Amino acid sequence: MGTVKVIDHPLIKHKISLLRDENTGTRDFRVLVEEIAMLMGYEALRDLPTEPVKVKTPITEAEVPMLSGKKLAVVPILRAGLGMVNGILALVPSAKVGHIGLYRDEVTHEPHEYFCKLPENIEERLVILPDPMLATGGSAVEAVNAIKQRGCTNIKFMCIIAAPEGLETLKNAHPDIDIYVGNLDERLNENAYIVPGLGDAGDRIFGTK
Ligand code: PRP
Ligand code: URA
Repeated sequence: MGTVKVIDHPLIKHKISLLRDENTGTRDFRVLVEEIAMLMGYEALRDLPTEPVKVKTPITEAEVPMLSGKKLAVVPILRAGLGMVNGILALVPSAKVGHIGLYRDEVTHEPHEYFCKLPENIEERLVILPDPMLATGGSAVEAVNAIKQRGCTNIKFMCIIAAPEGLETLKNAHPDIDIYVGNLDERLNENAYIVPGLGDAGDRIFGTK
C-alpha cells in the first residue's frame, strides 16, 4: 500500500501562500515552485536506501551511510510539472529525466496524452512524478497509467496543491503509489479549478494565457 502525506511545514506553507497571490509574477512564481519542489523532495526521498561505505576522515577510518545508488527518474507532467524538476534535481543530480505530456480538455476536463518519453530501464527505477496541481485527478491517474504500462511499479507523485476530489480519485485508482501534497485545498469550482488554488499553474510558470 502507498502512503499519502500532506506535508506540514511552515516554509512550504509560506511559499505556497506567496504562489497563490495573483500579484506574484512569472519570475518569482518559477523560483517559488522550484524551492517548494526541493523542500517537498527532501520529505519524499526520506526513505531512500543507504549502505555503509568506508571513508577516511582526517581523524580516523569510519563506516558511514551513503545513498545506495538506487536508480531514480524524475518524470514531470508537462507542462507545469517542468517547473518542479530543477528543485528535485538539486537533491538528486544524477537522476534521469523523462517527460509525460498531458493537457486537460477545457470543456470535458478529460486528460489527453500527447507525449511520453521515459528513461531506459524504467521498470528498475523509482519514479518521482511532479505536477503542481492535482485537481480532478484525471491527469495524474493517466500519467501513472502510462508509467505503469511501461513496467514501472515504484512511483511517488508530488503535487503542491491538491483538491480533495483529485486526491481521492488518485488514491482509488492507484492505491500502491506514495502521494505527497504541499496543501490540501477546499474544493473544485465549476470549471474544475482548485479553490482557493493559484489559478493555472502552467500559464503562471511560463507566462502564457
Ligand atoms: C494542469 C496541471 C495538471 C492538471 C491537473 O495542467 O498542471 O497537469 O491541469 O488537472 P486534473 O487533475 O483535473 O487533471 P494543464 O492540463 O492545464 O496543462 P499545462 O500544464 O500544459 O498547462
Ligand atoms: N490545473 C491548474 O493549473 N489549476 C487548477 O486549479 C486546476 C487544474
